[in-house]
Amino acid sequence: MTTLRSRIIAWAGRMYLARTRKKGFDLSRMSFLPESVLMPLRREGLDPVGDLAVVREKEPISKLPVPIAANVWLVTGYDEAKAVLGKGKAFSSDFTNLVGKAGAGAEQNPGGLGFADPPVHTRLRRLLTPEFTMRRLGRLTPRIHEIIEERLDAMEEAGKNGDPVDVVHSFALPIPSLVICELLGVPYEDRADFERLSAARFDLFSGANASFGAISESLSYFRDVVKKQRENPGDGLLGMIVKEHGDSVTDEELAGLADGVLTGGFETTASMLALGALVLLQDPEHFAAIKDDDDVIDGYVEELLRYLTVVQVAFPRFAREDLEIGGVRIAAGDVVLCSLSGADRDGKLGPDMEQFDPSRDVPSHLAFGYGIHRCVGAELARMELRAAYPALVRRFPQMRLAIRPEELEFRKLSIVYGIESLPVRLNG
Ligand code: HEM
Repeated sequence: MTTLRSRIIAWAGRMYLARTRKKGFDLSRMSFLPESVLMPLRREGLDPVGDLAVVREKEPISKLPVPIAANVWLVTGYDEAKAVLGKGKAFSSDFTNLVGKAGAGAEQNPGGLGFADPPVHTRLRRLLTPEFTMRRLGRLTPRIHEIIEERLDAMEEAGKNGDPVDVVHSFALPIPSLVICELLGVPYEDRADFERLSAARFDLFSGANASFGAISESLSYFRDVVKKQRENPGDGLLGMIVKEHGDSVTDEELAGLADGVLTGGFETTASMLALGALVLLQDPEHFAAIKDDDDVIDGYVEELLRYLTVVQVAFPRFAREDLEIGGVRIAAGDVVLCSLSGADRDGKLGPDMEQFDPSRDVPSHLAFGYGIHRCVGAELARMELRAAYPALVRRFPQMRLAIRPEELEFRKLSIVYGIESLPVRLNG
């Protein structure tokens, strides 16, 4: 598998290409990225590396020493990150900023919301948001509980002889995957394709050919799904949009939206389920609180979202105009990277933000982003997490880690932080 370091290098390489192609620079000159660029994607166990706090303290917006034509800024302060993400008009998220206009043909452009700017973003987001209202999501609730119970049954079966069971593969990955099948209205049999395509999609940050291939394949898969939904619209998100908006939304746009929902909702929720389970396993007091008290779950989920902030950096933003944020002058064309995990540990949010404390009252963390690109699936993710953690600890009250904490293998360098596996013994 491509290393995550090479994904980042390849991504920065494409940024470099996009910015410098016309100027005729040679990409081979950029042989490595300095550690300061990779640092926001590194962690020590569940915590961002200590250097991130040092940088935030000193310079909440700091200039990264990246060998490309444009300035690249790293934002680690909470107020500063909120200011950048809140200025939807001053910054562009357009995909062509990453790959250059020549590199963004219809086959390769992922479409969807994350890489679109207004007015396209506004129109597409309006198609999607009605599908994420509490009323529409309410229809999914019983199915989410069924999916969770089915996964717990499978875990019980796998662990019945005292064998270790992996929470990542038996619980954390299948739950959001099956929920997204249900949400979009695609058959469960497609789940394997689904998971493979999502993983491939994260290879957007790997070599250019591999990532473009993955995007094309993913879009082609969803184009087929959309074609079937046009012929026979179901009750899922895609069928509903087809019924409500007919031909005013193109197949290409629908495929892009579906692909964005998969990319946005699968790996993120899976990581939260697995890492959140680890937090509970590490502290018997937290484990018991979730098991015994229905009233604490909302506070736990919010604090787990903040503390873990699994989407470590937001998509790169590209300044459209000269502007000043937190006393720093950002020029048109500059690239801004918001470290969400850094911002969510900022002392401006409250005392001891490096600690996990479910009793705290945090007004608004940035785990779901902020502004016009704020996560459209936030309420669905909350529903899944609020249902899954209590169900897990109640079904297996004796559950314990099957390996020593120091043997746990976390992702080394990744946009969405996660853990490779989480082996547990169900009966202590
Ligand atoms: C705990 C789970 C989740 C986390 C931590 C998370 C986090 C995020 C973040 C940080 C962003 C903003 C990125 C940026 O500004 O660059 C985002 C956007 C998005 N998320 Fe989520 N997400 C989660 C679950 C979901 C789910 C369940 C779905 C859908 C089923 C979803 C769909 C999306 C979409 C479509 C966007 C793009 C929105 C836009 O650009 O307007 N996410 N998510």
